[in-house]
This record gives sequence, structure tokens and C-alpha cells, in this order.
Amino acid sequence: MTAGTVPPLVELAGVGKSYGPVRALSDVRLTVRAGEVACVLGDNGAGKSTLIKIITGLHRPDEGEFRVDGEPVRLSGPRAALGLGIAAVHQDLATVPLMPVWRNFFLGSELTRGRGPFQRLDIARMKRTADAELRGMGIVLDDLDQPVGSLSGGQRQSVAIARAVHFGARVLVLDEPTAALGVKQSGVVLKYIVAARERGLGVVFITHNPHHAYLVGDHFTVLRLGAVELSAARGAVSLEELITRMAGGAELAALRHELGQAAGGGAGAGPGEDGDDAGT
Ligand SMILES: Nc1ncnc2c1ncn2[C@@H]1O[C@H](COP(=O)(O)OP(=O)(O)OP(=O)(O)O)[C@@H](O)[C@H]1O
Ligand SMILES: [Mg+2]
Repeated sequence: MTAGTVPPLVELAGVGKSYGPVRALSDVRLTVRAGEVACVLGDNGAGKSTLIKIITGLHRPDEGEFRVDGEPVRLSGPRAALGLGIAAVHQDLATVPLMPVWRNFFLGSELTRGRGPFQRLDIARMKRTADAELRGMGIVLDDLDQPVGSLSGGQRQSVAIARAVHFGARVLVLDEPTAALGVKQSGVVLKYIVAARERGLGVVFITHNPHHAYLVGDHFTVLRLGAVELSAARGAVSLEELITRMAGGAELAALRHELGQAAGGGAGAGPGEDGDDAGT
């Protein structure tokens, strides 16, 4: 797509952050554009959560610049981030399991009608709006009166995504949304990531899983010990390479073996050739 003149929604340049003596991030760059999924990968302790906290206003960087729409900003907190259209969808969703879906959708921003002492919740309008918004994202639930707790993990994430979109998010920040989910439910969430992109949002997708990243990502940033290990557009990196850059050394050999099996006899992964980069 033509990106030339429009500034990115969100941009980090030379960002560093320490917790006392612990250097969690150094010289990190990241660009998030409208209609793109920017994946951030990295092992435990790589700095992913710290990065998210900076983007969503929980932390301020010690070094470098954080820009929104091309302008340097210092966010005072998550509300300030939300005000700029940056919304975090957390793993442990801020939902109330026993409340119905529509109620959760409007939690904290309930629609009302009437004034003063006559003010009441506008339940019909909330249901209608939630329904339309969910359908707009391709999410069809049988019954919006069912408690959110009865939804699958993937559906719950989807509701959170649709809610963020409804309340004006331009940038969605998803912290490991598929980490606790099985294959099928992960697929559900990945689908809504694509739906959000198609609606023109910028998506920051944090994950341990290069396979999930590669299914939906336009750009990939791999963090290692707080530094950028790889930053590449989709066309410039293969899934293989992404996996390689995520893992390391002996871990990698074991992983490759496992993945070879997981990929199933199908392609046979080139029997007869231990050629390419099999090394020792
Ligand atoms: N509040 C804190 N105080 C001190 N050190 C911290 C704090 N938060 C994170 N760290 C350290 O900063 C580094 C980066 O942590 P961070 O949580 O950002 O990594 P992560 O990539 O999200 O890891 P994980 O995959 O385990 O969630 C780690 O060394 C961590 O121990
Ligand atoms: Mg984390």
C-alpha cells in the first residue's frame, strides 16, 4: 500500500526503558500503520510487555521518542492513550463473566436515556448496537443475553476487539491473545485481527508464536533481551527465518524436529535431503 505521506499511527524511535538496574528495552524502533498488523515476537523477558506498556501509556520511555500521527507525545496514562485511539486488549479481559455480552460491551460507558432522576439504561439500544458492531466484525453470537463467561476464549477476545473498535480505537494492542487458546480458538482470534486490519486499524500483535504471527503479520519485530533482533516486512522474511530468529542454537534443532513432525508427513519435508542448513 502507499504509505509515503501519511505518518504512521504509532512510531517508536530509539526507545529505551530501565527498571532500576534492569535494562528492559534499548534502542527499540517500531512502526504501526493503518491497515497493517505489526507483530512483536520474543522469548520470555524479551521486553514485549514493557513495549506494550509504553505504547498504551502505562510507562514512559527513558530514552528515545514515542510518536503518534508523527508527533512526539508523552502519555500520562492509559486514558491519554485511549484518547489518541490506542486501545489495549488484555489477555485477562476486563470483563465481568456473569454479566451478559451486551452489558460487558458497554461496561463503563453505558448508554442511557432520559435525564436526571429519570435517567435509565438504554438496554434496547445497547443490545442493538453491540449486535451490529459484533456482526460488523463477522462475529455472530446466538444470544447477547448470555453471560460473557459462557463464551469461548476466542469469542471473548473477539468481543473485546469489537468493543475497542466501537469506542474509536485506531490502534489495537493485543498482548498474547492466542497464548492460552487451542488451535481452533486461536484461529478465531486471528480472523478478527485480520478483520480489524481490513477496517483500517493498526494492530500490534504480541506473541510467542511465529506461526500465528506469520499467518496475519505485515511486519515482524523480534526482540531479544530488550533489543531488536530482527525487523522485517513480510516480503523480506520467511516463516523459517522467523522461527530461527526466535529460537536459538540447540533449542532450535529440537524445535525444528518437533515442527517437522507437527507439519505432518504431508510434504515430507524433503526426504533424502538433509541438505539445506541442517548443520550438526
Ligand atoms: N516492574 C519491573 N521491575 C523490574 N524489572 C522488570 C519489571 N518488569 C519487567 N522487568 C524486567 O524487564 C525485562 C523485560 O520484561 P518484560 O515483561 O517486558 O518481558 P516480556 O517479553 O513481556 O516477557 P514474557 O514473555 O515473560 O511476558 C525482564 O528482564 C523483566 O524481568
Ligand atoms: Mg510479557
